[in-house]
Amino acid sequence: MMKAILYHKYGTPDALELTEIDKPIPKDDEVLIKVHAVSINDWDSGLLNGDFINRMLNGLRKPKRKILGSDIAGRIETIGKNVTQFKPGDEVYGDLSGRWGGFAEYVCAQEKALALKPPTMSFEEAAAIPQAAMLAVQGLIDKGKIKQGQKLLINGAGGGVGTFGIQIAKLYGVEVTGVDSTAKLDMLRSMGFDYVIDYTKEDFTKNGKCYDLILDVKTNRSMFDYARALCPNGVYVTVGGSIGRLIQSLLLAPLIRMIQKKNLRVVALKTNKDLAYMNNLFEAGKIKCVIDGPYRLDEVPEAFRLFNKAGHKGKIVITI
Ligand SMILES: NC(=O)c1ccc[n+]([C@@H]2O[C@H](COP(=O)([O-])OP(=O)(O)OC[C@H]3O[C@@H](n4cnc5c(N)ncnc54)[C@H](OP(=O)(O)O)[C@@H]3O)[C@@H](O)[C@H]2O)c1
Repeated sequence: MMKAILYHKYGTPDALELTEIDKPIPKDDEVLIKVHAVSINDWDSGLLNGDFINRMLNGLRKPKRKILGSDIAGRIETIGKNVTQFKPGDEVYGDLSGRWGGFAEYVCAQEKALALKPPTMSFEEAAAIPQAAMLAVQGLIDKGKIKQGQKLLINGAGGGVGTFGIQIAKLYGVEVTGVDSTAKLDMLRSMGFDYVIDYTKEDFTKNGKCYDLILDVKTNRSMFDYARALCPNGVYVTVGGSIGRLIQSLLLAPLIRMIQKKNLRVVALKTNKDLAYMNNLFEAGKIKCVIDGPYRLDEVPEAFRLFNKAGHKGKIVITI
């Protein structure tokens, strides 16, 4: 048996219950992991609330997969007979999006969803990395084509993507502005943001300044506002936020490129693609994980309440 946090109906964190259930059994191409740490992502929150898109993914009336949690770190306990890359005892981490199951003492995963954890990285640090860091890397490097000397703005800078984003951006020698709420500005300054903007007091799309690259985790403004805040040939990259605005960005991108010579791009997350890159940065001492917590498994509902009101700084991590 194992302890896990289950939900049987869509709703608030009150729907999350600590329960004892059977330990999962790995298939031939899977490993069984003893979970040591797991972090909360925006996607977990969407799956819990049960918005339209997440109901399409996890059941229209009630959730099919009842244990949330994608970003896990732990030790492999047993392996299926077709597993070749890992052995029992290996310390691994990764994003299990699509099957989830991380808010539990044990979870099964396919090899392709996992990377070896460097020995110097704690389980908590490893659990903080997968989704947020992949979005930051893919947003800044793959889609944003970040270059030395640019002016970058990160909108929604104090959460998971922003706190990895600033550290990756600084490796490229760029000037970085972070936008978030009043309570997070000191943390942003201490992480190396050159400038901070309090979105409750100032609208960065209307202050007359321009940026070569904007990385947005909120996407809460019109695409014309974002285009106004871009310098000539600038690039706006959204990783998430309002679905309506994301669709707007895809529809308007060709028009804004043709008329204003500015670029709007959307990141479609490639899970776990850049874990090796993050391992290298971590081992070279170039990346630190900003962790809120760690919390205990029985505190998961409380941790979701904190996440839902964005009271967290960096990544909320649960130790199991
Ligand atoms: N593209 C994909 O394939 C994909 C896959 C998975 C997830 N995602 C998306 O990726 C994003 C994950 O971001 P994250 O992990 O960094 O989220 P996060 O940890 O929730 O951070 C978001 C930050 O934005 C701040 N914020 C809230 N309202 C704001 C506003 N109006 N202006 C500026 N900042 C604001 C929040 O703090 P305050 O509330 O205190 O201001 C918080 O610090 C989500 O949008 C998620 O949906 C995308």
